[in-house]
Amino acid sequence: MARKKKPAVSPTLQWIALGAIVVGIAAVWVWFAQLRSGASSVSVTMPELSRSAKTGQGHFEANCALCHGASGGGTDQGPPLVHKIYELGHHSDGAFFLAVRRGVRQHHWTFGDMPAQPQVTRGQAALIVEFVREVQAANGIY
Ligand code: HEC
Repeated sequence: MARKKKPAVSPTLQWIALGAIVVGIAAVWVWFAQLRSGASSVSVTMPELSRSAKTGQGHFEANCALCHGASGGGTDQGPPLVHKIYELGHHSDGAFFLAVRRGVRQHHWTFGDMPAQPQVTRGQAALIVEFVREVQAANGIY
């Protein structure tokens, strides 16, 4: 009895395999994209704030929270400021004044550039820094 030789892989199967590979790559890509944005926002413990930090909190909410989160924990538009890389030794208060005055070129993260915030005065920025430093300290970042 002559046996018919089957083709190695049927064309339909080849298409199904190709489809599975494409879906697999897409899934990994989505997972990475989520990892990159999701991993950057952190949960923040809010301490009892001093008077000036409380005022700073108001300015922060009005000018920075859109991207950095209401408590500085970050959003999908900007990084957490309550984060080790923004501790005093790495980013001094001067870095905050500069960020407000000149904006920031994307370098630590992948959110894009931070636009300058010219509506924020130096005095308001100083209060914002007090707020951020108190929240950082309450979360073990000095
Ligand atoms: C439109 C979004 C947006 C707003 C509004 C915003 N930021 Fe940012 N900020 C960013 C992004 C994005 C980065 C990260 C840039 C990088 O390092 O890749 C950043 C970085 C910073 C840094 C780090 C600077 C450095 O030297 O690395 C500081 C400090 C900062 N922001 C403070 C503030 C303060 C204070 C406000 C409010 C007055 C504010 N930001 C408002 C998006 C924003």
